[in-house]
Amino acid sequence: MPVVVRNDKEVNMERSKLYKKTLLIDSSDDKAIKDAAEHLRNGEVVGFPTETVYGLGCDGRNGDAVKKVFEAKGRPADNPLICHIGDKSQIREIVSEITPLAQKLIDAFMPGPITLVMKKAECIADETTAGLDTVGVRMPSNPVANKFLKYAAVPVAAPSANLSGRPSPTSARSVLEDMDGYIYAIIDGGDSEYGLESTVVDCTGTDPVILRPGAVTKADIDAVLKDKEAVMAGSITDGEAPKAPGMKYRHYAPYAQVEIIKMPEGTKITGDNAIGTDGKIDKSATEPVDLKKLSDDEAKELVNIAAPFILRSREILAENPFARIGLYCGSEIKAMYDKMNDKLLSAHTEFCVYGNTVDVSCASHGLFEGLRFLDVQEVDVILAQGFDGEGLSVAYMNRLGKASGKKEALTPGMPAPSRPARTPLPLDAFKDTYTASVLFVDDNNISLSACLETLMRRMIEKNEPYISSKASDTGFEIYCESAGLTAMNGLDPDPEMEKAVKELTGLGMGYVESRRADPAIYDDNDLILTVRDEQAFEITKAFPEIKDKVFSLSTFAAANGLVMKDSSGRVMSISVPDPSGENYETYLHTARALGAWLELLFPYILKELGASRI
Ligand code: TXA
Ligand code: MG
Repeated sequence: MPVVVRNDKEVNMERSKLYKKTLLIDSSDDKAIKDAAEHLRNGEVVGFPTETVYGLGCDGRNGDAVKKVFEAKGRPADNPLICHIGDKSQIREIVSEITPLAQKLIDAFMPGPITLVMKKAECIADETTAGLDTVGVRMPSNPVANKFLKYAAVPVAAPSANLSGRPSPTSARSVLEDMDGYIYAIIDGGDSEYGLESTVVDCTGTDPVILRPGAVTKADIDAVLKDKEAVMAGSITDGEAPKAPGMKYRHYAPYAQVEIIKMPEGTKITGDNAIGTDGKIDKSATEPVDLKKLSDDEAKELVNIAAPFILRSREILAENPFARIGLYCGSEIKAMYDKMNDKLLSAHTEFCVYGNTVDVSCASHGLFEGLRFLDVQEVDVILAQGFDGEGLSVAYMNRLGKASGKKEALTPGMPAPSRPARTPLPLDAFKDTYTASVLFVDDNNISLSACLETLMRRMIEKNEPYISSKASDTGFEIYCESAGLTAMNGLDPDPEMEKAVKELTGLGMGYVESRRADPAIYDDNDLILTVRDEQAFEITKAFPEIKDKVFSLSTFAAANGLVMKDSSGRVMSISVPDPSGENYETYLHTARALGAWLELLFPYILKELGASRI
């Protein structure tokens, strides 16, 4: 199967910011939660945590408030919202009939990750149910949600708190990323336990119909009902009225192509009965694993699970030497990749590890954040672990299936598809911050290396902020500078180059002043990139002890498997001639070429420094 990237851009409705900043409320701040509930009653929209995913809540009786939610989400108004309650006694107020079937499911599963569709009562706004005569009712078990809903004391209509077409958010950070300025406040309740949206069950008839699979499984429901069996609703076809209207929209789609990697038949999976574990994630499963401690059988099983990932990664790179591959997999699979120590594979792969390889609860818990994370790393394809269980696995595979739509073929060297601007959180949200620095070197430091420094600064800024790829709670700052092997100190950049850079980027080069490269400057930097091969050679000859951090643009590209060949199959070197003395067009062409190289190398530079985008 060819690797593909997607280009069908999500069409979102117009959104306009209502607030300068969305208020971020700590789950321990009782007063602020009460205040947010008060604002909700007055018609505003508040993001809140639940055990499944974060919701975007408003007063479900107030049609104007509901419209604000649709606007903030950029969601078409024909997809109904679920009503959330803090107390079972509210059910009677928002539905006109509780069927015996509904009552059994309420008793068995509420509060918990389930939504029951029932006939609606008069008080629920038509905007909430998109004109349907039924309403989805959900009582979350998350204590922060429960507290907030009790304070609100009205039916809180809430969809998942993502921008339409994005993966549902399972952390306050992700809600803020999609919603900052569009809603009044977000209550930060930490990571959602289950990580997948609730099971939606239509119980208006005599037999339950599962409209959306979730952590409450068909087996869980059947076990409670005994004499009846739940029916799984098929997906709808065009023109047919949707039973779960949400089914007709494309969901959970990252910008990268998603491929599901099957687990070998007969693999014993854990966590498939999520309700049994209450969605509690075994945190120890996310620790790095020691492959040596495995028994022979365990090791054999792992090799079988890892093999298709490795084969597929190699196949993708053979087809497309520039591809960047994201892996959503277990910690043992990552340990196997690490152990192989294949330079090419590791240069082209970004990992998001969910924990124990065979645990579908862990995989579900981390799925949406994982897709978001890998997307920000601008990978072209995501290989995600599949599960073939019959419980929670069904919900996990349902969401993963929706993320892996059909997309266009990826052509070698094609730039990443355009992605919408991100509004990530500031660095001060982190406990520590690492720093790292890149040095660009050529001869005189008034032209090429000065241009690289300026372009790099711009790229660093554009992609800010960063976290350490080793510790996601640690921020990362990146600096860059330039120097020349034979440079005089204190010269201004070549005015023609400055003009070219200004034309391309709008930035002046006022802060660049030529400097002679010396050991102290080499010492200050974590990665040294020279314009030409001879320059890197000269540095490593004089200072062999730093050879691991010195590359030319060409050798750095090659070390990362980015080997370019000309039409006759010869390996091409990145050679950028010094435009000094040539006309302005030559300068412009040179600056453009350097920009294109940096654009290509940037993710590999981040990887070399140990930084990830967030
Ligand atoms: O876990 C969840 O259910 C989360 C949290 C926030 O509670 N909410 C959530 O909402 O996922 P939303 O709007 O993203 O998805 C609700 C799904 C949609 O597919 C919608 O079409 C369906 O439930 N739904 C809502 N009301 C319905 C109704 N009256 N009849 C049939 N389907 C309905
Ligand atoms: Mg949703």
